[in-house]
Amino acid sequence: MSDKPWGGRFEGATEKNVEEFTSSLHFDRRLYRQDIRGSMAHARMLARQGVIRAAEAEAIVGGLEEILAEIEAGRFAFDPALEDIHMAVEARLTEKIGETGRKLHTARSRNDQVALDVRLFLAEAVEELLAALADLRRAGARLARRHFGLIMPGYTHLQHAQPVLVAHHLLAYDEMFRRDQARLKESLARIKVSPLGAAALAGTTFPVDPEGVARELGFPQVFRNSMDAVSDRDFILEFLSHAAILMVHLSRLSEELIIWNCPEFGFVEIADAYATGSSIMPQKKNPDVAELIRGKVGRVAGSLMGLLMTVKGLPLTYNRDLQEDKEPLFDAVDTALGSVRLMTGMLEGLTLRPERLAAALKGGFLNATDMADYLVNQGVPFRTAHEQVGRAVRYAEFQGKELQELTLEELQRFASQAGPDLFDWLKLENVVARRRSPGGTAPERVEAALRKVEKELGL
Ligand code: ARG
Repeated sequence: MSDKPWGGRFEGATEKNVEEFTSSLHFDRRLYRQDIRGSMAHARMLARQGVIRAAEAEAIVGGLEEILAEIEAGRFAFDPALEDIHMAVEARLTEKIGETGRKLHTARSRNDQVALDVRLFLAEAVEELLAALADLRRAGARLARRHFGLIMPGYTHLQHAQPVLVAHHLLAYDEMFRRDQARLKESLARIKVSPLGAAALAGTTFPVDPEGVARELGFPQVFRNSMDAVSDRDFILEFLSHAAILMVHLSRLSEELIIWNCPEFGFVEIADAYATGSSIMPQKKNPDVAELIRGKVGRVAGSLMGLLMTVKGLPLTYNRDLQEDKEPLFDAVDTALGSVRLMTGMLEGLTLRPERLAAALKGGFLNATDMADYLVNQGVPFRTAHEQVGRAVRYAEFQGKELQELTLEELQRFASQAGPDLFDWLKLENVVARRRSPGGTAPERVEAALRKVEKELGL
């Protein structure tokens, strides 16, 4: 059976089921560009090092260029019998340029080759995701700017807590996405490590130049241990973990948009372009995009768990199990990128409804902490003030009123230190404005924070 690149050792043919079961071509063909790029760098290196002749390297590179064009034009016949993209490209190369094509794999194994391909792919994907995250942050910052000054209830336990600026709430998400960017950016240093030259596992007898290959590919580092180079998948696990955290952030924002969009809240309206209808209920306009982003966290987190389990019991070095790294990676890249882009569009088209926000501010004693703080300023210990206001709230609730709707006499029944200036003190604009502590929601703090973000994003 010598029609397989490894056919020399074999007498019997591969079982059809085995061929299907072991083949990765239907998904790893996505790596064709990276595979060809890596092979070109490898061939040039072999020539520089005198392993093959310059003319041979030229023929190989020329052939690979043509194959690239064939694949890109959809003219490449992917033969399912050829296991993976590496074999598919190499077989076609030999078909095109003859015997010289059979020299390409000198001093290389698919083990270092596939590790390189995935690293090249992921480096590009991370750059794309970083750019998408910058766009998302821009959309969030623009929304915050457009509605600067608008106040909304801040929640803990999904109960009214204290009033905050809408911009402050939005900038909390900006912090999350900024950390996501930082994590991804930082991980590039561990992705851009060239494994080429490790060969199967132990290095090679040929005088290879891994540094030169890495330089040509734009990778600042090369592997240090050949055995690690072919079996390390940490960089994928790291990415999946970062992607899962990013998805969790998107999911939390989605959840808020869904809540804010429901009629009971009505704080926002999601644009028609980002909603869908019902096949039975004519009145429906559902926030399906937000729901799907929230739902897709499961896929990405699942991919992370899946690959952790795949790698956990593997002895050194390469094992075929590692072929299972690609589908979860591709899916996570597509899901994260798609989700970030759709969230960007949703924020860009989002309408806020100030009248509904104002209505929501009316209930829930959002200024109760501030009445306690007022009393503290009159010399009442905080714990005592807390208790006094608590009693006042209970009384007001019974009357169906807010604190500021009680009379001064009523308030003084619970807190004797209350004076006529308390009413002004309790106005929600003042409640917000007083939170000048670092990172707080006072407009001047939020303005400075937003300006910083705008500057960072080139707005
Ligand atoms: N398709 C394989 C993978 O994705 C490539 C490496 C195969 N190496 C081997 N010795 N069978 O991992």
